[in-house]
Amino acid sequence: MLALGGITRIFGTFDGVRAMMESALTARDRVGVQDFVLLENFTSEAAFIENLRKRFKENLIYTYIGSVLVSVNPYKDLEIYTKNHMERYRGVNFYEVSPHIYAVADNSYRSMRTERKDQCILISGESGAGKTEASKKILQYYAFTCPASEQVQTIKDRLLQSNPVLEAFGNAKTLRNDNSSRFGKYMDIQFDFKGAPVGGHIINYLLEKSRVVHQNHGERNFHIFYQLIEGGEEDLLRALGLERNPQQYQYLVKGNCPKVSSINDRSDWKMVRKALTVIGFNEDEVEELLNIIASVLHLGNVQYGGEEGNVCITSDTQIKYLARLLGVNGAVLTEALTHKKIIAKGEELMSPLNLEQASSARDALSKAVYGRTFTWLVNKINASLTYTNYSVIGLLDIYGFEVFQHNSFEQFCINYCNEKLQQLFIELTLKSEQEEYEAEGITVRHHFLLSLSEKFKGIISILDEECLRPGDASDLTFLEKLEDTVGGHAHFVTHKLADAKTRKVMGRDEFRLLHYAGEVNYNVNGFLDKNNDLLFRNLKEVTSFPILFPSSLHPFLTSFSLFSVCLCLPLQAATQFKASLAKLMEILMSKEPSYIRCIKPNDSKQAGRFDEVLIRHQVKYLGLMENLRVRRAGFAYRRRYEVFLQRYKSLCPDTWPNWQGKLADGVATLVKHLGYKPEEYKLGRSKIFIRFPKTLFATEEALETRKHSLATKLQAGWRGYSQKSKYQKLRTSAIAIQAWWRGILARRRAQRRRQAADTIRRFIKGFIYRHRERCPENEYFLDYVRYSFLMKLHRNLPKNVLDKSWPTPPAALAEASEHLRKLCMQNMVWSYCKKISPEWKHQMEQKMIASELFKDKKDNYPQSVPKLFVSTRLNGEDINPKVVQALGSEKMKYAVPVTKYDRKGYKARPRQLLLTANSAVIIEETKLKQRIDYGALKGISVSSLSDGLFVLHVSSDDNKQKGDVVLQSDHVIETLTKIAICSDKINSININQGSITFTVGQGKEGIIDFTPGSELLVAKAKNGHLSCSQTAPNSSIVVQPLLLQTCVTL
Ligand SMILES: Nc1ncnc2c1ncn2[C@@H]1O[C@H](COP(=O)(O)OP(=O)(O)OP(=O)(O)O)[C@@H](O)[C@H]1O
Ligand SMILES: [Mg+2]
Repeated sequence: MLALGGITRIFGTFDGVRAMMESALTARDRVGVQDFVLLENFTSEAAFIENLRKRFKENLIYTYIGSVLVSVNPYKDLEIYTKNHMERYRGVNFYEVSPHIYAVADNSYRSMRTERKDQCILISGESGAGKTEASKKILQYYAFTCPASEQVQTIKDRLLQSNPVLEAFGNAKTLRNDNSSRFGKYMDIQFDFKGAPVGGHIINYLLEKSRVVHQNHGERNFHIFYQLIEGGEEDLLRALGLERNPQQYQYLVKGNCPKVSSINDRSDWKMVRKALTVIGFNEDEVEELLNIIASVLHLGNVQYGGEEGNVCITSDTQIKYLARLLGVNGAVLTEALTHKKIIAKGEELMSPLNLEQASSARDALSKAVYGRTFTWLVNKINASLTYTNYSVIGLLDIYGFEVFQHNSFEQFCINYCNEKLQQLFIELTLKSEQEEYEAEGITVRHHFLLSLSEKFKGIISILDEECLRPGDASDLTFLEKLEDTVGGHAHFVTHKLADAKTRKVMGRDEFRLLHYAGEVNYNVNGFLDKNNDLLFRNLKEVTSFPILFPSSLHPFLTSFSLFSVCLCLPLQAATQFKASLAKLMEILMSKEPSYIRCIKPNDSKQAGRFDEVLIRHQVKYLGLMENLRVRRAGFAYRRRYEVFLQRYKSLCPDTWPNWQGKLADGVATLVKHLGYKPEEYKLGRSKIFIRFPKTLFATEEALETRKHSLATKLQAGWRGYSQKSKYQKLRTSAIAIQAWWRGILARRRAQRRRQAADTIRRFIKGFIYRHRERCPENEYFLDYVRYSFLMKLHRNLPKNVLDKSWPTPPAALAEASEHLRKLCMQNMVWSYCKKISPEWKHQMEQKMIASELFKDKKDNYPQSVPKLFVSTRLNGEDINPKVVQALGSEKMKYAVPVTKYDRKGYKARPRQLLLTANSAVIIEETKLKQRIDYGALKGISVSSLSDGLFVLHVSSDDNKQKGDVVLQSDHVIETLTKIAICSDKINSININQGSITFTVGQGKEGIIDFTPGSELLVAKAKNGHLSCSQTAPNSSIVVQPLLLQTCVTL
């Protein structure tokens, strides 16, 4: 366990960190470990499978064993192959991202580019485990991520499009996989020095030709047959002599399932046709290709009849089509399919075949034709992909280990291949492990021994011998020979050699091999025939075949010398296969390998089902536990110093944020700080090796925690920084705006100052020239003076008629000002007049008359001005009703109490003076004492002083009158004004200075003398005159303001 002291030092409290680490560990456990190397219990298969299961349930289908990728087929679309994913894995360190096939692809690509070493990716697994899908994903990854020019694009397209073509001709629906590859494939992708894919090459291995003539129940022939029949255009089918019904063809009905729900033959056909064009097949070549495919179907329908020893073909139709499609002579073909050529005593004889032989010959021909077509196709694709000596990445998609109930020659070959690959795998893995330790100067002792031996040694050569030796060689003689030669080998058992217990589970025609993945029983039946590839054996007998197409018109077939090889001895299939495998091993050994181990989770092709038994079996025969053991023999984890330091440097203050010294010293400082114990790790030359996963986990957990605090710090730093820069930005903007605005303001002010200065200058100039005629120099000034006068006038117009203020006009406007003043006054008067009531008007009229009469003539006039004239001084109750009665209909206009002075003694008597429309009447209580018609009123005299005396001069013609009447009224101005108005005697009022002379009657005169005095005193003087001394005008009179105003104005 990692000494937690170090980590505690970093994070303070031990308990807190521990709790956090544990919770993080359990969280991680839920999806297992990303690398099996980090499994605590690495020897336990159960733990291994449990880790796979946990991850599979979470849709995490990829897990590493070191650099080996284990992939579990999800049987569903996981959305993990998008362009985004490709981008994410591009150029990223293998261990920095979660396990993915793209990481493997990218790693190989980068190694190829940086180390200039060829790479290969070996994909293995059983049928349906996802090998082909994996290889396609890798190809797509390269197509997307590698740089590409236009020319490279064509190659990319061809590389990609080679898949659907090869799948159409080489894949078929089997019980295990609806798109099972029935051949092994090794594909080289070539890259130029820029890393762009510029070419490719495909090698195919062991096509399962037997499928052409026979399929197990529930399986199909190769896809291309169904695609042609389903998708081919009517014209095409007609030309090929085919019907759109797979049931019509013997080679398509064996498995009894021409239609599969997961396969759309029609759309696949379209895709294949397009792909053929992309790859560069011209129309003729496509036609030839389809002719061959159709001819295989026709061959299958060739039926034999007749008697034994005289076999014949029952229907001509197929032969006719075959002759046309293959470009051969029908008769020769018929003979070849029914006879064999034998050489007896140096002579060639045609011997008829029996039914069984004839059928075999037919099927052999079909298989051979199809097999060679497939090879031709691969060669053609290779020709379209240029191949030069650049760096390559090889992709090996080859069948995995197969164990069936009955295992035959094919399983033997396949398992042989897997045995070789496993051997290679272990060798290379061990080698690279060992090399790595050595390179790093670390000594590690492996605690296990790999028992890899050539179990197949000898078996294939014995088989070949049996095939070639003269005499009656059979499968059983082959078995016996095996027992004789390799019987002593520890990994080989037959029924005969086995112990009693084993015998129970072995047939007599079986031999058992102990493979690395387990024991497999092989049934020898058919081994010889299959190894001879039937056709050749037949051809050795049926020598009519070489002459079948001697002058074949069919360039396609002749180009492959299909039948020209028939005379010479062919290599046996197993030997051929062995040779090609040896070559493959050579190829692989020369490259840096990466491994993808595919696992099939269940047999029912269902998503989400994890069949533990099935998986355990695969884990076993894929050698994954062995792989893990090799990997974990020494140290569970290793990283280059720079990678390790880069990842964990934040955990030690000395290495954070950057280590300046040597990398190795940095790592040493770091692990010391983390408290690693000496036995937990070793430092190599360029890598650190950590023995236990938990040491790494603890460091990872510490990193997680550290990341949080770092993130917080970074966040805070970043926020501070961003806020600061935001603030700085705002500030700069504000300053810019301010400066800009200040500039505007300053410019405006300057402009205003300039304007003001101009104005002042003009003003002064104008002032200087003001007395001149209007000229440019003074016009502004003059206008201004006028304007300002008018404005001033406008603001200070007199408020009322009494307001006499008026601004002083400039000389030029004196006349206009006068006009304006008058207008203004008129306007005010007019509007005043418009506003006054009739009563007030009447009052004013009276006051006007009073003014005309007395203004500046009588001293007490000013005192009367502010007093309103009333309509009467006596009301109805003041006047005796008798008087009213005596007046009759005469309407009284004014009445005022007066004092009457007798004519003789000037005795003062209180009287009432009544004015009617026609006369003035003097009333003494109830009596009308005197009536003076206005016609008889000659005039009225009054003094200029302020007394109230007045004399009504009466005409002496009127006998009723006794002379003038001397009266005194307290309201003399009002009374006289009323009398003047009523009697229309305005011009008859005399204002006398000093004295008034009046008629007393009968020609006598009386005189009233007026003298100023301190108080009013009216009395008869000694000279017989009436003397009137008067008071000074009363200064304490309260003047009614409005009246006063009006009167003054008027
Ligand atoms: N990564 C994957 N994601 C989704 N489905 C997959 C994936 N890999 C495989 N499959 C599914 O599994 C099926 C079988 O895969 P594939 O044909 O690659 O198997 P194989 O290993 O090549 O088998 P064979 O040996 O028979 O050719 C595919 O048709 C596909 O439906
Ligand atoms: Mg496949």
